[in-house]
Amino acid sequence: MFEIDKIRRDFPMLERTNEGKPLIYLDNGATTLKPDCVIAAVNNYYQNITSNIHRGDYHLAYLADQAYQQAREVVADFINCQSKEVVFTYGTTHGLNQIAYGYGIKNLKKDDEILITVAEHASNILPWYRLAQLTGAKVRFIPLDEKGKITVENVKLALNERVKIVSLTHGSNVLGYISDIKAIAAAVHEAGAILVVDGAQSVPHIKTDVKELDCDFLVFSGHKMGGPTAVGVMYGKYQLLEKMEPLLLGGGMNYRFDIAGQMLFKDAPDRFEAGTPGIEAVLGLKAAIQYLQNIGMDKIALYEKQLKDYAVSEMKKLDNIIIYNPEPDIGIISFNITDQGRVLFGQDVAAYLSKHGLCLRSGNHCAKNLWHHLGTDSTIRCSLYFYNTKKEIDKLIEVLKTATLESCIDVIF
Ligand code: ALA
Repeated sequence: MFEIDKIRRDFPMLERTNEGKPLIYLDNGATTLKPDCVIAAVNNYYQNITSNIHRGDYHLAYLADQAYQQAREVVADFINCQSKEVVFTYGTTHGLNQIAYGYGIKNLKKDDEILITVAEHASNILPWYRLAQLTGAKVRFIPLDEKGKITVENVKLALNERVKIVSLTHGSNVLGYISDIKAIAAAVHEAGAILVVDGAQSVPHIKTDVKELDCDFLVFSGHKMGGPTAVGVMYGKYQLLEKMEPLLLGGGMNYRFDIAGQMLFKDAPDRFEAGTPGIEAVLGLKAAIQYLQNIGMDKIALYEKQLKDYAVSEMKKLDNIIIYNPEPDIGIISFNITDQGRVLFGQDVAAYLSKHGLCLRSGNHCAKNLWHHLGTDSTIRCSLYFYNTKKEIDKLIEVLKTATLESCIDVIF
């Protein structure tokens, strides 16, 4: 039983407005609203256990230490790995940079290859470009199929003995397709490479088991799953983490150093968590994961699938719409609105929707290489989460019907 009314009451933002209209938040690919328990967990740290971790010898610091370590265990349980394989980061971007730098610099040389696709977010492209510049390795793009999907066949065709790293999105933030990571991982490993998975858009929505997927690294962000901003997770197989260089050096990640410049770093995961982390954010992420687990990831995925199917079928009935991914796997639908044979500028339409309380992102969604496939560098994106409803979709459809060159331009001028 999915108790949507009860769930909605857990999210205080759902009682707020946007431009004076009841908030209809359909930008969950960008970030998500937070349930009370997450806000309470963050507050609890500030109100009751404020102290630094890994440093204090007093009781309060012990409480903070304990809570932080429990959070690591909750994450490990959530994705089915060991807690020492969970590194807290500032988000998906941080995790990908850490892997590109920390694994890549040590393991890649001139003419080695890194495989990605044009569907990747900037954070899964730019770190690899820099790694290529630093090592002389090359970045190559695995072709998408005609729908824009990453297929196992195309990954296999792109693999060769020079490929050392394959880094792919699990769920596309523009097209909403889920890649078959398990089969891709098998192919990548057979070719002697490692597989890095960007789980920013998948982990919040579908049950994720890293053992089952057999990926080498998985990164995701807390704020896209009801948790605070500026916290994320980098999962890595321990034997890889052990050999990886930290991106950031500083307090908390070293055993000792001396005036001769010698440094001895701690083992993973501590060696990757230099400086004071976002302790309250980590504790908020723990609360978010427990909240998702209480509802059940399978129930969340099923509810979101039904809502996505409803949204797609209602949108398809519009005669002023271009949908770029009419069969998404998760609740991400990218589209544009037309009028008099012209495609309306996405940002104008988004501003018009905002006047009606609707929050949707428009533009390239940080996937600036994807226009090669889409034929446009700007779309409007409806991205769902489990607190959205059919009624909210109906409102979106009702407003989209009235989006014209004139009504949208009116908002701007
Ligand atoms: N990566 C986030 C998005 O797709 C910010 O909107």
